[in-house]
Amino acid sequence: MRAIGIGLIGWGTVGCGVIQTLRDNAEAIENRLGIPLKLLKVADLDLDRPRPVDVPRELLTTRVEDIMNDPDIHIVVELMGGLGAAKTFIKQALENKKYVVTANKALLAHDGNELFEVARRNGRSIGFEASVGGGIPIIKSLREGLAGNRIDTLFGILNGTANYILTRMTEGGLSFGDALREAQAKGYAEADPALDIEGTDTAHKLAIASAISFGTPIQFDSVYTEGISGIAPLDVQFGEEFGYCLKLLAIARNTDGRIEMRVHPTFIPRDHILAGVSGAYNAVHIHGNSVGNIMLYGMGAGMLPTGSAVVADLMDIARDILANTPERIAPLAFLPERLSLIPIKPISDISTCYYFRFSAVDRPGVLSKISGILGANEISISAVIQKGRQTEGSVPIVMVTHEAVEANVRKALKEIDELNVVLAPTQTIRIENQETTHRD
Ligand code: NDP
Ligand code: HSE
Repeated sequence: MRAIGIGLIGWGTVGCGVIQTLRDNAEAIENRLGIPLKLLKVADLDLDRPRPVDVPRELLTTRVEDIMNDPDIHIVVELMGGLGAAKTFIKQALENKKYVVTANKALLAHDGNELFEVARRNGRSIGFEASVGGGIPIIKSLREGLAGNRIDTLFGILNGTANYILTRMTEGGLSFGDALREAQAKGYAEADPALDIEGTDTAHKLAIASAISFGTPIQFDSVYTEGISGIAPLDVQFGEEFGYCLKLLAIARNTDGRIEMRVHPTFIPRDHILAGVSGAYNAVHIHGNSVGNIMLYGMGAGMLPTGSAVVADLMDIARDILANTPERIAPLAFLPERLSLIPIKPISDISTCYYFRFSAVDRPGVLSKISGILGANEISISAVIQKGRQTEGSVPIVMVTHEAVEANVRKALKEIDELNVVLAPTQTIRIENQETTHRD
């Protein structure tokens, strides 16, 4: 074999990052592999739109079959995104005995279990490093670097766009819309940015990373998910007064035989290990029973960082091709027959601290009514702020609680929001402290 042939579907942001990385680092790649990675075809629907990275005309095609049927193409790189057509192409590639690399976390979160089985039946593998954490080698660290551990906790910031928006709103004073537009212009956002904003993209990534960490099939439907679209600048400001900064956190724990997987806006103390992760940077903190705490940090999105992760997969697969070891590492780290469906801990069972912003009428006795209901539900208050006086409408009453059980919080808030002195649904943001996330 003189070269490993690559066919790429999707000449977009990440596609350009892959093409540029293969081109700029060709010598280093060949020096590491002993053989070149050769881009033979690039398929896209629109070949005329200007791209940041050019491709010689003779490599371009609008027909994906040109890639599927080319015997010199060993690895198909799917970078078009989406569910239906991407799934069809990946299955077709595997059935044509080609290896696959993808950055498509949405597809893997929904159909990864099935696709990994298709790969296994065909004696091929799927590389998906770029699907979690952009340029950060999270999958490789979990599957290989931490393979000797029992992993019990994984939490972090796994969406570049959401973190970019929160950072620009907090530090740059931008509106939500302007910050999102910037993230889109930089190539961080999904084609449908609702996936970033509503937490779904983070949930896709958490489902994949949790499966690899805990030895369970991907269980995306079980990830509790809230996004950042309901966050008001007012909440960010109140949070700052309490010494917190706001992050969209992904949290997974495997304790007492149950898995907790949740994604939601979270206040963390200003000196928390994740507080300094800003812009499109991501970070994931992992606790393994032998290694202790480790944290991986880097660019979570963007053309070249994501291209870097895709090319690392291409190189791993090239080594497997050269050594004829197509299934050297199981996709979800544990052997497929050893994965077990670990029960999920429902969100109602979690216990954490809370921030509440009540929109209440400014009248004597209101505060005691609210705190009475909280107390009756075993929720104890650690701090309160009430600002300004208002004869009409509502004033914000902001409270921070000690640790409480989510089911009790939901019951109390239902009762409070039904009071005639409360004029709008209560804003609730969970709080995680260093002690609850960072184990010793
Ligand atoms: P882009 O929208 O920039 O690129 C996708 C490209 O695929 C577009 O050029 C699109 O063409 C093309 N395409 C769509 N459908 C087809 C098809 N049927 N046949 C051939 N080409 C097609 O997306 P990104 O590069 O940002 O993302 C690609 C994938 O990588 C997604 O799964 C995304 O979730 C993932 N990802 C993205 C990251 C990022 O930072 N952007 C980071 C990590 C993962 P057209 O525009 O003409 O429709
Ligand atoms: N839209 C994703 C993000 C791309 O912003 O993190 C990287 O997965």
